[in-house]
Amino acid sequence: AAPGFIDGLIARMTLEEKAGQLSIMASAIGGGAATKLNPITDTASVSEQLADARAGRISGIFNGQGADWHRKLQTEAVKSRLGIPMLFAADVIHGMRTVFPVPLGEAASFDPGLAMRTARAAATEASAAGIALTFAPMVDIARDQRWGRGVEAAGEDVLVGQRFAAARVKGFQGEGLDRDDAVASCAKHFAAYGAGEAGLDYNSVDISEHTLRETYFPPFQAALGAGAASIMPSFNEINGVPSSGNHWLLSDVLRGEWNFRGLVISDYTADEEMIAAGFAKDGRDAAKKAILAGLDMSMQSGLYQKYLPGLVKAGEVPMARVDEAVRRVLELKAQLGLFADPFNRLPPGREQQRILTPIARDLSREAAQKSIVLLRNQGGILPLKADGAQKIALIGPFAAGQHDLIGPWNVYGDDAQAIDLATGMRAAMRDPSRLSVTPGSDVEKPIPGGIDAALAAAQAADLVVLAIGESQEMSGEAQSRTEVVLPWPQQRLAEAVAATGKPVIVLLKNGRALALEGAVLDAQAILVTWFLGSETGHALADILFGTVCPSGRLPVSFPYESGQEPLHYDHKPTGRPAPDGPRQPYKAQYRTAPDGARFPFGHGLTYGKIDYTGLDVGKPAGEGLIVSATIRNSGDRAAEEVVQLYVHPRVSTITQPVRRLIDWRRVNLAPGGSENVEFTITREMLMRLGPDLKPMAETGTIDVWIAPSAEDGLKGSFELT
Ligand code: IFM
Repeated sequence: AAPGFIDGLIARMTLEEKAGQLSIMASAIGGGAATKLNPITDTASVSEQLADARAGRISGIFNGQGADWHRKLQTEAVKSRLGIPMLFAADVIHGMRTVFPVPLGEAASFDPGLAMRTARAAATEASAAGIALTFAPMVDIARDQRWGRGVEAAGEDVLVGQRFAAARVKGFQGEGLDRDDAVASCAKHFAAYGAGEAGLDYNSVDISEHTLRETYFPPFQAALGAGAASIMPSFNEINGVPSSGNHWLLSDVLRGEWNFRGLVISDYTADEEMIAAGFAKDGRDAAKKAILAGLDMSMQSGLYQKYLPGLVKAGEVPMARVDEAVRRVLELKAQLGLFADPFNRLPPGREQQRILTPIARDLSREAAQKSIVLLRNQGGILPLKADGAQKIALIGPFAAGQHDLIGPWNVYGDDAQAIDLATGMRAAMRDPSRLSVTPGSDVEKPIPGGIDAALAAAQAADLVVLAIGESQEMSGEAQSRTEVVLPWPQQRLAEAVAATGKPVIVLLKNGRALALEGAVLDAQAILVTWFLGSETGHALADILFGTVCPSGRLPVSFPYESGQEPLHYDHKPTGRPAPDGPRQPYKAQYRTAPDGARFPFGHGLTYGKIDYTGLDVGKPAGEGLIVSATIRNSGDRAAEEVVQLYVHPRVSTITQPVRRLIDWRRVNLAPGGSENVEFTITREMLMRLGPDLKPMAETGTIDVWIAPSAEDGLKGSFELT
């Protein structure tokens, strides 16, 4: 926009028009099937929404369906008194029409470059429907597996969270916001949404500033550092103050310390929810507290439309504060090129050309392959033979059918476009008649006769592929669980199938880490498969039959038992650590579960055998300290290894986690090949917040590991002076 253009516009706006620019509403025509919309959606009718656009009463809508609908609204908006174009936003979390693995699954790739490419592909499809802003990435750290929304984020680790946050922002925003294939990103949910007490969604958060700054803020800083255009405060309160009304969070930290210039958009009715939370007296008070705290745009509650004009007229909210928020909205619209051409993302015909292209589907397949984690492969039972030598019984509620493939919180994905496991396996087999398919059980309730049919199928086969786990409704928003275990009917199915003595390969579908037990845990092979998206069946077949070797790593710790939650590898040491070996009294240990994780953060196998030898720790000098180790693939297949670097200072002013990931590298290893993998540790990587919350590097002995997981690896140490 020309200099002065936005100021000129603001000068001409009425207070009602300003309040309208600060309000975004759920679309009257929803995304995908109506049943997939946010269940608490309470939208205006189509004609009401068109009238709102024409009157300049709304700034934009979200989760709208299709370019035609967006075009109609924009046509009305440009006819409004000031002709301010509308902003079309959406939850494009893990793909639009082509669906990629859920973000937690994609984090298992430990490949932020991949996440950048899938976000780019999602933006290409979304922008072709007129969408100019996505409420993504979700960059919340999730350490309690009871919480359902961890599925939308990158797991428990801060560094993984930072790298994926930045990559996704860059992917969505592409070459620049004014490009018609760019989608502005919105880092959410600021802050500590994943730290809700007892893993309960929306629950209150009581947390130290130290933990906030060291664990929960860094992925937001990374997203903003990568240029995220907006940020969404979380539903939860932090230490007694809801984020939507938290001046310290939204103004002192975000604006003051981090100098963020973009837009702050509330979560769905989050401003209004401050009333139920006991922080605001009524809607008027909530609107006042929100705008004064620093919340620029209100989503869905209508509180700003209703109360801002009166609050300004009464002198309770300065006009300057309203103008500042309006300016941010208009600046974003200008950056998105909407003033130059309100229809820039809406050329006729583009939407159909850009969706579900073969290139996007190939990328979805690659992302799915890289997200799969091999937890166990006893006796090298995997990969399977595709030549028809083995008769395979595919059993379980996720064996066949186009349900539970695209995963939670995908507004625009179409089940009918996703490849299921049975289809993928048949396509990979020379003789598909060697595959039998039996559900055996529903997800959460038994099927009459299901186990008998499964047993007959298992007995007639050489081995069983058991597709079990969580449905996509079991994770995501408002889907907290008290126990992170397999639903009992499926556990019963697994026990029955195992009793046949046939080898069992478990394909686990999950939106969180699970505590595996019994026959599932004892299966010969276990693959963690999350929700993999449009190409689920093909990607799983690629891994099962060994066209591609597994290379994913756990971005969350898998507990022995649910009661260990919240569980994360980078916990603090206690004064009474549990010893290795026999149990001793008065130690920090559970009566029934061993210390640590059943399958630790960072763990994941491949079909080759990988050895770590020859740790070499140099001396701190110049740019930093070089540490290296030789990583050898002694298997007969090419492998990709995620080599991880952890540290722990032995003595610190503020105690430090037992280990902390400070870098990793994905390396390709030819069969029989090896690589000397080198890392440089800089002083900056060792910086932690001191007692005054300022960064400091501890001197003294620092333990260092080059490792295949958070509970394994080669250990050395160095002195930092
Ligand atoms: O973006 C989401 C948010 O993550 C949860 N509440 C609804 C918003 C808009 O759909």
